[in-house]
Amino acid sequence: MWTERSIEHEKASRARVGRLRPQAFRLPVLAILAAILPATLPSAVCFAQQTRIGNVTGSLKRGKELYRRYCVGCHGVLGNGQGENAPYLDPRPRDFTAGVFKCRSTDTGHIPTDMDLYETLGRGLHASAMPSWFPLTRQQRIDLIAYVKTFSPRFHEEKPEPVVPVPPEPPASPESLNRGLEIFKKMECAKCHGLSGRGDGPSASTLTDSKDRPIVPYDFTTGERFKCGQTNQDLYRIFMTGLDGTPMPSYLKDLKPDQAWDLVHYLRTLQMNYENSANNGAVKTSPARQPGRSIRNALRAVSGSK
Ligand code: HEC
Ligand code: HEC
Repeated sequence: MWTERSIEHEKASRARVGRLRPQAFRLPVLAILAAILPATLPSAVCFAQQTRIGNVTGSLKRGKELYRRYCVGCHGVLGNGQGENAPYLDPRPRDFTAGVFKCRSTDTGHIPTDMDLYETLGRGLHASAMPSWFPLTRQQRIDLIAYVKTFSPRFHEEKPEPVVPVPPEPPASPESLNRGLEIFKKMECAKCHGLSGRGDGPSASTLTDSKDRPIVPYDFTTGERFKCGQTNQDLYRIFMTGLDGTPMPSYLKDLKPDQAWDLVHYLRTLQMNYENSANNGAVKTSPARQPGRSIRNALRAVSGSK
């Protein structure tokens, strides 16, 4: 799973860090301590905020260098989202000092796991200026995460839990779609996303994010990618955990797993355009204008609704 290259990279960077920063010697000691004494370890000792994915450990020193090179123009030297390009971007770059993230496997109000951040870096955030950093090595992305986490005290004061489980998906069926439609109505997703999922619900134009900036609900009918992953599992996780820092709530307390899966199945029918245009590649060019009567008709056919 780990490429030769990233392992080499890791060894090299560890050796460098070890030589240059005596402080880094504490990292392995901490790791051992953390393994033996998780309950007794005082939280203040966790200043190192170790970042580990698989058997790769993030290096703060390299992470800082990489951050200064690739991220600073948007997220700012202080990680407060006020890099020099920030005023021109909508949505604005994330302010890491708040420790609030959209894409998480953890329940709403909690910090993301290292793996969540790792996946975000690999994916980028669709419909924003945040690109995919997949071209960097695994080691580099993990180093970056280690550094990004230092901007918020939340990462050494809190744990990334509880993780919201995603149970196996039951098969989609017409019954499941119908139940999903009822849940969509009952949970009032339409207030923001609109009855046909176009992002034009009655509250849509009034929404703001946690920085008081206007934010628009996702338009399902465009078939655009989600910010936080594209699979059915990702979709399940998105509305069960919510997008923190935005008005998009978490439904973990309202929905049982089976209901959540029914909703996933129904939401996919709103994205019918996604499947159609994914095939002819048209989706990116004029996303906002495509859906129309045909989708609504198809919807009625699928869901039996008006
Ligand atoms: C061109 C500008 C730009 C650059 C460069 C950039 N970002 Fe971002 N980043 C953004 C924007 C804009 C957002 C907010 C997107 C949103 O809220 O939908 C964001 C959001 C994020 C998030 C939050 C994800 C979440 O779940 O909320 C992380 C983490 C992140 N960036 C890390 C990085 C790292 C690490 C780098 C450097 C390797 C980087 N970014 C470089 C613009 C940028
Ligand atoms: C109070 C308004 C509001 C309600 C109610 C709401 N949403 Fe959202 N939703 C939003 C906003 C705003 C966004 C866009 C967030 C962003 O771009 O960062 C969003 C985004 C999404 C996304 C895209 C996430 C991504 O990763 O890009 C999905 C999926 C979604 N909502 C599903 C739902 C479902 C399902 C329901 C009902 C169970 C629901 N929403 C209820 C406001 C709402």
